[in-house]
Amino acid sequence: MLKGKTVLLGVTGGIAAYKIANLASALVKLHADVNVIMTQNATNFINPITFESLTGNKCIVDTFDRNFKFKVEHIALAELADVFMVAPASANVIGKIANGIADDMLTTTFMACKKKKILAPAMNTNMYENPIVQDNIKKLKDYGMEIIEPATGYLACGTTGSGKLPDEKILLEYILREVAYEKDLSGKTVLVTAGPTREAIDPVRFISNHSTGKMGYAIARCASLRGARVILVSGPVSIEPPLFAELVPVVSAEDMYNAVMKYKDEADIIIKSAAVADYTPVAVSSEKIKKQDGDMRIELRRTKDILKELGQSRRENQFICGFAMETENLIENAVRKLESKNVDMIVANSLKTEGAGFGTDTNVVTLITKDGKTELPLMSKDEVAMKILDEVECLDTQFERKNRIVLK
Ligand code: CTP
Repeated sequence: MLKGKTVLLGVTGGIAAYKIANLASALVKLHADVNVIMTQNATNFINPITFESLTGNKCIVDTFDRNFKFKVEHIALAELADVFMVAPASANVIGKIANGIADDMLTTTFMACKKKKILAPAMNTNMYENPIVQDNIKKLKDYGMEIIEPATGYLACGTTGSGKLPDEKILLEYILREVAYEKDLSGKTVLVTAGPTREAIDPVRFISNHSTGKMGYAIARCASLRGARVILVSGPVSIEPPLFAELVPVVSAEDMYNAVMKYKDEADIIIKSAAVADYTPVAVSSEKIKKQDGDMRIELRRTKDILKELGQSRRENQFICGFAMETENLIENAVRKLESKNVDMIVANSLKTEGAGFGTDTNVVTLITKDGKTELPLMSKDEVAMKILDEVECLDTQFERKNRIVLK
């Protein structure tokens, strides 16, 4: 994923410096060329040998160290980098950078680097909230640098507050967004629906399904890493939302309908992977229903078919993709849905195929369009998401070029 990309990591003196070992390791596993520059103070928290062992590159601390492979090291590294992340970024280094001070290897390389720069401030809460630090951070933002908001939590100094270095997975996501993929969806808004819906019976019970949201969340994440603005309308799930998507949490099919109708006109691409309930109880009891002798029946009514309504009221050049999860006659049912709902693509999967379906990290899908079908092999849900977006992007571009006539 990061083959041929050079990532510069600047590590400053903070207790969270140890987390960067995991980040460096994750980047190496994705085939990035990782170069770490440390401040002298950072070496009190983690040894440069750790980074050298993980990255296979010399970890540079001293500007005047002569034992290196580049000509003028700070310039060479600055030019080589595809992205430069400083994490943890101490108040001291933030202050230096904001005020043009370049007095060590990290700050000189930073000054010489013209590529995207990302800083993750991490320090004691009082230091972080100090107006001088805040002014410096604002200055960096004004210069076009990306600042990762620190997390709130228990800090090494024994207090709880803001100033914690976010988890290394979050730092990695910022780097991936910068360098991992072509930004072929930039300028597009993608509306994704994901997860199940819950139809209340009473304050205690509901009707739902086994959807975990994994497929939709993978699509939302991949679309945002490819440069799209992503609106993610999600039913109740227990997985972390993708970092760069705008999350709109909903509960019932009706909530999902309302949210989709609110945002649909902003979207260039709509991908409806949610498992929406087709039926909802006619009446919701305001009190817990007590059991009685004998059987009970719940009367259900149809919910609105959101996808169908989208297909009927689509705006010009809007690409709509639905999902079909079937247990029999996969292709026939999916083709029928493609036509009856007037959409551009149906992602079909069979619950009976091993490795496909709810809750798994993999999927086996067939992409069905008006032009035919593409069967994909067993893949991770991230890979499937990328393939779906490749197909969407490819068809979307063709349609735009052909000045697609919209069926009303
Ligand atoms: N869908 C929707 N609104 C609903 C139900 C489903 O938008 N009330 C969407 C899903 O998000 C998915 C697609 O429709 O993209 C699934 O098609 P659908 O025919 O509704 O499938 P099922 O609900 O499984 O229905 P069927 O009983 O016809 O298989």
